[in-house]
Amino acid sequence: MSKPGKVFLAGAGPGDPGLLTQKTVELMSHCDVVCYDLLIDQAVLSMIPADKTMLPVGYRGYCGATIEYGMHPLVIEQALAGKSVLRLKAGDPFIFGRATEECRSLQHHGIEYEVIPGISSALGAAAYAGFPLTSNGMASDVTFASGHKVSPTIKSWALAGDAAGTLILYMGAKKLKKHTEELMLLGKLPSTPVAVIAAATSFKQRTLISTIDQIGDQIIEFDNGDPMLVALGEVVSLANELNWRDVLPLSQQQVLTCSNDQESRNKLKLLGATIVDAPKIEVNYQFDSEDWLTITTNKHLWLDSQEAAKSLIECSRKHRLDIRDWHWNISGSQDAADYLQHFGIFITINDKPVDHVCIVASTKSHGICGRQVRLIQPNYQLSPSSFALTNEIVAVEFLINNNLLLDDAVVFTRNVEVVEFLSDTDVKSYLITKNDSFDELDISSLILCSRAA
Ligand SMILES: C[S@@+](CC[C@H](N)C(=O)[O-])C[C@H]1O[C@@H](n2cnc3c(N)ncnc32)[C@H](O)[C@@H]1O
Repeated sequence: MSKPGKVFLAGAGPGDPGLLTQKTVELMSHCDVVCYDLLIDQAVLSMIPADKTMLPVGYRGYCGATIEYGMHPLVIEQALAGKSVLRLKAGDPFIFGRATEECRSLQHHGIEYEVIPGISSALGAAAYAGFPLTSNGMASDVTFASGHKVSPTIKSWALAGDAAGTLILYMGAKKLKKHTEELMLLGKLPSTPVAVIAAATSFKQRTLISTIDQIGDQIIEFDNGDPMLVALGEVVSLANELNWRDVLPLSQQQVLTCSNDQESRNKLKLLGATIVDAPKIEVNYQFDSEDWLTITTNKHLWLDSQEAAKSLIECSRKHRLDIRDWHWNISGSQDAADYLQHFGIFITINDKPVDHVCIVASTKSHGICGRQVRLIQPNYQLSPSSFALTNEIVAVEFLINNNLLLDDAVVFTRNVEVVEFLSDTDVKSYLITKNDSFDELDISSLILCSRAA
């Protein structure tokens, strides 16, 4: 039998993929298989390379059924088959993560393992709802308790009186009314501030702030099935003052991106958007043999874009044609010139001459196109979005055909062909121009107009 592979028990944080540790991000690429909880956000799953085997292994609540705690049989099976497995768990694996049982069952099977901490939902929820867990003069300690059952911790927090710190209840939302009634019976002031944070740190995050005498009833309407975390204590009252996230114009938006446009992605992130990298694309640069013959037997080439220049470089490499032996008289766009300059090749910048062979970035343009795009479909459930970022028509077609764009959706793009394509559909487009147009003001008014539509 082959040596078992190693299992990495890693925390995936509460939702925002930016909260993953560097180590977990690296393991996403290096492990053979990724096994993930049902609570893991799709923005996190979208960071996993498309060629990985991905297996959902979690459960949510157990509705009275008996669960055999321990490492999931699929994880054991993959590891025993010699595969390295990244076992992604919500939040931190060592906080209400049943990790003791999981580690023991790995030991039992002789499987080596490593534990990588993650941002627990309490830390994410407090930071993204805008209140600290401890604060000078208000709370000097914080307690993490399970609210799944009536726990002695809840009792001791109530009995500690009003000077007590902050109480965090994981899995406590469903029984919150019972917990708050008990807390008040034990002497906790009915005016004690409480926050319930649903889907913390994701674009779906919602926060309900109230007092312990009210929250038990209010939570019934608030509950939409997303995971919820409860925080009790004076620190919650700081949320109005310290909240930083709600002012970001895109904090409640998810953008499906199918693009390597780092500049736009970074700007969207700074505006608060959650980026979901899906569907992924694979771009190849190769001319078919007939087109390559046309190119090599002509003397004058014109390149319409950086992508066209890249095609020429990549295909020369593939055909073992040294760029020092290029025999062409080349001209083209500024972008093409800028790209080729990195290779020590200087071309004339001009508009398309009539007698040249034109190499173009898109099959829709008139000329020879060496850029081929393949879409890799996500192998996990993607939910629809109001925004997308892509320069690829195939990606837009995929999003529309799979109902991944909501009715009032807007597609950000740098490609005028995408704008033209969308003009025949109900989906709006937003052309990102070279230098500007992508600032906060534009985005806010765009959201307003997409909501008004
Ligand atoms: C089994 S515990 C897992 C806790 C996880 N290991 C952690 O460190 O956050 C599941 C509970 O964590 C909380 N939780 C997990 N993710 C959450 C999120 N994104 N937002 C709010 N609460 C969350 C909820 O209270 C949920 O019932």
